[in-house]
Amino acid sequence: MRNLLSIEDLTRDDIERICERAASFAAVGKREIKKVPTLRGRTIVTLFYESSTRTSASFELAAKRLSADVISIKAQGSSVDKGESLKDTVATLTAYDPEAIVIRSPAAGAAKLVAGWTDAAIINAGDGKHEHPSQALLDVYTLLDRLGSLDGKKIWVVGDIAHSRVARSCVRAFSLMGAEVTVAGPPTLIPRGFGEAFGCEVAYDLDQVGSADVIYALRMQRERMAESFVPTMREYAAGYQIGPRRLGSRQLLMHPGPVNRGIELAPEVIDGPASLITAQVRNGLLVRMAVLYEILAGSDRPRPVRSVGGRLESVESEGAPTIGEPA
Ligand code: CP
Repeated sequence: MRNLLSIEDLTRDDIERICERAASFAAVGKREIKKVPTLRGRTIVTLFYESSTRTSASFELAAKRLSADVISIKAQGSSVDKGESLKDTVATLTAYDPEAIVIRSPAAGAAKLVAGWTDAAIINAGDGKHEHPSQALLDVYTLLDRLGSLDGKKIWVVGDIAHSRVARSCVRAFSLMGAEVTVAGPPTLIPRGFGEAFGCEVAYDLDQVGSADVIYALRMQRERMAESFVPTMREYAAGYQIGPRRLGSRQLLMHPGPVNRGIELAPEVIDGPASLITAQVRNGLLVRMAVLYEILAGSDRPRPVRSVGGRLESVESEGAPTIGEPA
């Protein structure tokens, strides 16, 4: 795997391989020294043009746990504030010879664009309303860890589908893993043709949500709403909030975070026994370690070369990276 831009680029085998790798990092996380030397001497840049807590923190920690050198840039406070373009910013950071750039941008397609401007591998940490593939991978991992398999499982993705990159990545990933996916929400928040485009069912109310094995609630993305999509948040909550009344005892609850408490989720279910929200955050670290491993140290990665006396020679001939002993 050269880049991680979209779940569309992955197969079920790819997802299973990444999840297996993440599981191996879970064992490393139980050691006293949680760092391994896999990416020692390699540089990873995280470049965030939008707010983030989970994705930015977990990618940074994942890179550090793999012993990479990390440069973390937030647009706010960087030369982006002085008007530097995305292309110039990428060219500047590429001069430090990073092996990977993890990028979050408000613009759909930004990660793919950046992949054409640099030799560094690109990991899409969320691009506008398009995709958030590492979120979907950590969600699949969390469900596999809990359920063993997604084959035939009914997963309802509820809420603001229209503005959600998480919905697009998760629907694709859950379907690839064999789940039967339904998206549900107000008609104003489900794009026309979404069901056909993504191969899922569509519901405009929660009357049948009791049939779901998993309810995946989405954040109302008010920052992406230029107009009013629901009459009021109170009315939205009345129709679509997941609370104790709508959550059955055998159902699991997920949310990518951050949660608008009292809007898409009632406070009691956030911290209740059905909630996988904290597990999702914890697993985000393991899965992002696995993504970095897959891209930078996986067996099908083109080996970096250097010129020695006019000949090109594999740098990795000095020793292929392994999970190995503590760093
Ligand atoms: N789920 C998610 O992407 O969270 P952050 O915005 O905090 O990274």
